Amino acid sequence: MTTEPLATAGTVIVRPALVGDADAMARVFVDSFRAGHRGQVPENVLQSRTYESSAAAWRRDLTAPSPGEYISVATIGGEVVGLAMVGPPHPWADDDTARGEVPTAECWALYVDPSRQREGIGRLLIGDFSRHLAGQGIRRLLVGVLTANAPARAFYESLGAALIGSRLNLDEGQTFPESVYAWPDLPTKVLD
Ligand SMILES: CC(C)(COP(=O)(O)OP(=O)(O)OC[C@H]1O[C@@H](n2cnc3c(N)ncnc32)[C@H](O)[C@@H]1OP(=O)(O)O)[C@@H](O)C(=O)NCCC(=O)NCCS
Repeated sequence: MTTEPLATAGTVIVRPALVGDADAMARVFVDSFRAGHRGQVPENVLQSRTYESSAAAWRRDLTAPSPGEYISVATIGGEVVGLAMVGPPHPWADDDTARGEVPTAECWALYVDPSRQREGIGRLLIGDFSRHLAGQGIRRLLVGVLTANAPARAFYESLGAALIGSRLNLDEGQTFPESVYAWPDLPTKVLD
């Protein structure tokens, strides 16, 4: 996997994640997950993500990626400040399009360090993985967002995603309403 920068803006570099990034990714993911989802899910769900378990999970994913998976990091001065993970869409009964004719991917994770949000890093990560997906022949992108996560919904809507439905997200034995957004033609157009 190359370490060539794929997208830059100012001091931010977006590149494919490496196994050696796992610990730093865990810190960003856990801090952003807990800050971002506080008040949206109960405390036990927030605390279920730990630096240790998350680092182990990133290390596993990066060592042996599943088919179609792409994991990237945004760095500033070599420090990881954001991450993204995309892959094949989760099976979802309502989404006929994802079942067949249009090659579709799903954003599984997008997390920016709480101290670096609203600096354009999330947008850069989406631009980078969209270009990667386009190169793989993918034409459509989905993302599931907790319905209670109004800031993230506003973020995706600002980048042109359209709400196409809802489903339930299972986490720690509890279900949470999730809104599903789609870009029928990948978000690259709004990002170039
Ligand atoms: C959602 C998230 C990834 C966005 O990343 P970000 O780097 O902060 O977003 P950007 O700076 O690229 O924002 C791009 C545009 O999206 C919109 N936007 C971003 N955050 C927003 C918010 N909190 N409220 C309203 N609009 C928002 C704005 O239009 C923004 O442009 P502007 O700052 O010029 O007005 C980040 O806030 C985050 O990590 N949140 C916590 C975790 C989370 O909820 N992840 C998504 C799970 S599905």
